[in-house]
Amino acid sequence: MVWRLIPLLLLLAWTASMCSARARVDLLNVCMDAKHHKAKPGPEDKLHGQCTPWKEKACCSVSTSQELHKDTSLLYNFTWEHCGKMEPACKRHFIQDNCLYECSPNLGPWIQEVNQSWRKERFLHVPLCKEDCQQWWEDCHTSYTCKSNWQRGWNWTSGINKCPAGTTCRTFETYFPTPAALCEGLWSKSYQASNYSRGSGRCIQMWFDPAQGNPNEEVARFYAMAMSAGALPQGVEPLLLSLALMLQFGLLG
Ligand SMILES: *[C@@H]1O[C@H](CO)[C@@H](O)[C@H](O)[C@H]1NC(C)=O
Ligand SMILES: *[C@@H]1O[C@H](CO)[C@@H](O)[C@H](O)[C@H]1NC(C)=O
Ligand SMILES: *[C@@H]1O[C@H](CO)[C@@H](O)[C@H](O)[C@H]1NC(C)=O
Ligand SMILES: *[C@@H]1O[C@H](CO)[C@@H](O)[C@H](O)[C@H]1NC(C)=O
Repeated sequence: MVWRLIPLLLLLAWTASMCSARARVDLLNVCMDAKHHKAKPGPEDKLHGQCTPWKEKACCSVSTSQELHKDTSLLYNFTWEHCGKMEPACKRHFIQDNCLYECSPNLGPWIQEVNQSWRKERFLHVPLCKEDCQQWWEDCHTSYTCKSNWQRGWNWTSGINKCPAGTTCRTFETYFPTPAALCEGLWSKSYQASNYSRGSGRCIQMWFDPAQGNPNEEVARFYAMAMSAGALPQGVEPLLLSLALMLQFGLLG
């Protein structure tokens, strides 16, 4: 009686493992469904400037990588210089943030669906390495802005984001008192300020040396595994339980 159930058990175990493997694969090596992302990641030999670390496997095209280095890129007609000139030391972090957003194929675990006219998906709570957030904040101390959330609330009547009525240009520190306030507030929690350090394998690096490979691949694998491990038992446990019961009846019979 028991031996009859063995193929069934094997089939169930196999199905469960396939489901969890599929869940993990779906979160790895993917491009978000947004405005300028490619459908699938692939090599882009000629990626521009600060986006070159992603050239082995990128979700951005060459022209996107060029455009996002401009002060008012035609990608979004968004300007960082809404309160006068932004210091180059500060600006490079915004360019890097753009490169990560447009080019990274390793942010699958944090993709969420959204109901926005210009994109179907967004990133939410990407754990940004402590040092990357800290350095961004320090280098922007002396630049100016008028808002603590750059995603919404601008005056777009001119076609480019302008400070809305009632706001004043002040130092970054006024609007972003801490590194976390900057990294998390800027794009409505696209980032979460992580306590983990660069190289830990537990946080996403905005900056990395491609000679050592892309450190974010391992990070994505870790979080994808953690997420699918958390999701698996809910669906499979009841099945296993009923199978165990059947097995017991089989034994009794
Ligand atoms: C940006 O502005 C240009 C010129 O005004 C326009 O052609 C383009 O469609 C705009 N792009 C976006 C994303 O709004
Ligand atoms: C998305 O927005 C549209 C129009 O605003 C609405 O009809 C639709 O139900 C929304 N979908 C979701 C999933 O919220
Ligand atoms: C938006 O900016 C225009 C000028 O570009 C101005 O006339 C208008 O009052 C502003 N609107 C708001 C709500 O700030
Ligand atoms: C981050 O680490 C610091 C010091 O180790 C600790 O005080 C803080 O609670 C941690 N924050 C989070 C969110 O884990």
